[in-house]
Amino acid sequence: MKYGHFDDENREYVITNPKTPYPWINYLGNEDFFSLTSNTGGGYTFYKDAKFRRLTRYRYNNVPVDNGGKYFYIKDGDTVWSPSWKPAQTALDSYECRHGMSYTKFKGSKDGIVTEVLQFIPLGFWGEIQQVTVKNTSSETKKIKLFSFVEWCLWNAEDDMTNYQRNLNTGEVEIEDSVLYHKTEFKERRNHYAFYSVNQAIDGFDTDRESFMGMYNGFDAPEAVLNGQPTNSVAHGWSPIGSHYIEIELQPGQEKQFVFMLGYVELEEENKWESKAVINKNPAKEMIAKYDSVQKVQVAFDELKEYWDQLLGKIQIDSGEDKLDRMVNIWNQYQCMVTFNMSRSASFFESGIGRGMGFRDSNQDLIGFVHQIPERARERIIDIASTQFEDGSCYHQYQPLTKKGNATVGGDFNDDPLWLILSTTEYIKETGDFSLLDELVPFDNDMSKAKPHFEHLKASFYHVVNNLGSHNLPLIGRADWNDCLNLNCFSKDPNESFQTTGNKKDGKAESLMIAGLFVVYGKEFVNLCLQIGKQEEASKAQGHIDQMIAAVKEDGWDGDWYLRAYDYYGNKVGSQENEEGKIFIESQGWCSMAGIGMEEGMVEKSLNAVKKHLDCDYGIVLNSPAFSKYYIEYGEISTYPAGYKENGGIFCHNNPWIMIGETLLGRGDQAYEYYTKIAPSFLEDISELHKVEPYVYCQMIAGKEAVKPGEAKNSWLSGTASWNFYTITQYILGVKPTYNGLLINPCIPKAWDGFKIKRVFRGVTYHIEVKNPVHVCKGVKELFVNGEKMNGNIVPVLSTNKEHTVLVVLG
Ligand code: GLC
Ligand code: GLC
Repeated sequence: MKYGHFDDENREYVITNPKTPYPWINYLGNEDFFSLTSNTGGGYTFYKDAKFRRLTRYRYNNVPVDNGGKYFYIKDGDTVWSPSWKPAQTALDSYECRHGMSYTKFKGSKDGIVTEVLQFIPLGFWGEIQQVTVKNTSSETKKIKLFSFVEWCLWNAEDDMTNYQRNLNTGEVEIEDSVLYHKTEFKERRNHYAFYSVNQAIDGFDTDRESFMGMYNGFDAPEAVLNGQPTNSVAHGWSPIGSHYIEIELQPGQEKQFVFMLGYVELEEENKWESKAVINKNPAKEMIAKYDSVQKVQVAFDELKEYWDQLLGKIQIDSGEDKLDRMVNIWNQYQCMVTFNMSRSASFFESGIGRGMGFRDSNQDLIGFVHQIPERARERIIDIASTQFEDGSCYHQYQPLTKKGNATVGGDFNDDPLWLILSTTEYIKETGDFSLLDELVPFDNDMSKAKPHFEHLKASFYHVVNNLGSHNLPLIGRADWNDCLNLNCFSKDPNESFQTTGNKKDGKAESLMIAGLFVVYGKEFVNLCLQIGKQEEASKAQGHIDQMIAAVKEDGWDGDWYLRAYDYYGNKVGSQENEEGKIFIESQGWCSMAGIGMEEGMVEKSLNAVKKHLDCDYGIVLNSPAFSKYYIEYGEISTYPAGYKENGGIFCHNNPWIMIGETLLGRGDQAYEYYTKIAPSFLEDISELHKVEPYVYCQMIAGKEAVKPGEAKNSWLSGTASWNFYTITQYILGVKPTYNGLLINPCIPKAWDGFKIKRVFRGVTYHIEVKNPVHVCKGVKELFVNGEKMNGNIVPVLSTNKEHTVLVVLG
């Protein structure tokens, strides 16, 4: 069952039934100021950090779901309704929510009144625009009442929902003309306030929640709205809100437009006040003036569209399959930009107060957006590397506001360092900018310990070499990529976190996943050394890689697949010998990608085993059989019920590793089949089961051992976005940046006749056409650049200011 449809031309998903199985959300904002917005108007706004600078309140985990938002109420006679259906929930004559690239449009109609709300954040601006258009399509004159509504959050989102003994006494507002100012804590240590304005005179307002709502009413039926009369309340002490009231008279066919703005202002200490206890409103007034007409709003909205044209225009495909095209051309790229901005902080499933920027997550996210915003990717790499320690280990997370490592979470996740080699080499291949390697980057944010960035990569590589266990395989530390495989943790206390406590000091467990990862990114390190003339460094590193390959063959192979690990006692994890968790996806993915034992048929056997034991209708599960009880020596993985999350769930982030492995074997049909099983646009028709948005990837789909296989959770903020984009474009469609040009090496379903792809690479546009006349999966037979036949399958870096055509014939 579907709840809407794709509008590819406008790059929108159009929701036509407001009762989606979960709130289906979108993100507004691209730099410092952001909003989340659901298909029924729910969501919130923050400046830079969703925990410390939250402007408006949202009620996570509420009953019913999705309460708190940027709301509008229309009172027409005795009927109260909302253009986004919620909060009023009055049945509408028509409803439509269009989620687009950094904007959302609602259109609701009732009894001859059509109301449209356009929400977006202009580029470089610290305010959200809500343009409201109200039109009378009936044949009578209409007198209606419009109420706006936001509920202010008292800035620190965590404190806001826990510290009521204080928070019910601190709320403060000011009101001037049509602008409602929120200034809680401004008189003390804050130098920022928020405001909510509208570009014309109002007929009343409310700023105190109890007065507006009534003590016993919900968002669906505020007392002031039911009465058709605001109370002009001024919040003192508690629960400040912002609500404008406007009386509108419309002749038949007439429409009126209003520009609301939800803004944020920061002031210098000396300029905070206009007079005693009166805030300096000048910056807010300047912001309001910037967009005080629909014409000005239109200009900003057009700029936003151009911004996205430019970002998405760097990779555009025409495959003949709409579902694939819309993922690659629009939604997957868009999601990668959202993960760049949000990391794992704020979504419907991430509360915005829990996690900072992950070291491994942010490095992996980068491979999804480096082609779109290379300069910002460079800055991000430096931020991440600055939190690394001199021995190559790193803080697992850092805070976006301070860019410092997060000491409470700590480090010792032994996969972390290697991801820095991934992000850095992908950045250089995309841009050709080797100067990053010479950039002085601190260790542990201490400039006195700064070294050229290259030394960070070396430290990453040798962190693995210097931390091997008794099988000469990498020690796992707290965990590797799988946060929940806690082999040195042995936790008995339900009050402690598996991620941060209880690790045995002599942690002996070893990881085959890190072994494969090391071989893949070790080779990248070697390749990079060769590019910059460090021959000796390269051959020394190659020696360590060869030893690792030997160790995997010696002690990491279980007969039909790669083991997953050795536990603290030296017992095998992910082996035929185990009763549960006999096979895991991560080591099959990484050791296959590393090509370990390719000649001996190990890669093929491993991937066949994945197909046999891990594949199901909805994707590839993480491990099988899932754990049915708690294994203290395995940790959090065994806490989840079978089929969920890391315990036998389809953890979409790691499915692409298997797809890449399949492409190395040349099995394009299999790779693509795995791709389509988890790509959201291919799941649109089963939205009632899948539940989350059909336009973005989710982290987890319930696996074959779950009660309801196929049910998904945790959409939007997941490494799934970047890995799937990377895999489909670079391994399946097979257009891959290298140091010396674009490698063209598709691995597609046999049945395809070919496809077209436009790729902007280092400022030059390539129009690539791939033809598949004899229906193979893989193998470039001929390659022509501007009509000229090339040797091999690399398109060299060509001059700028030019468009080039590339013809590729498979066979
Ligand atoms: C989550 C984490 C990521 C981890 C994965 C597997 O997605 O953000 O860092 O690798 O779970 O546990
Ligand atoms: C939980 C989740 C895992 C995530 C981790 C982050 O363990 O299951 O996916 O990576 O928390 O702290």
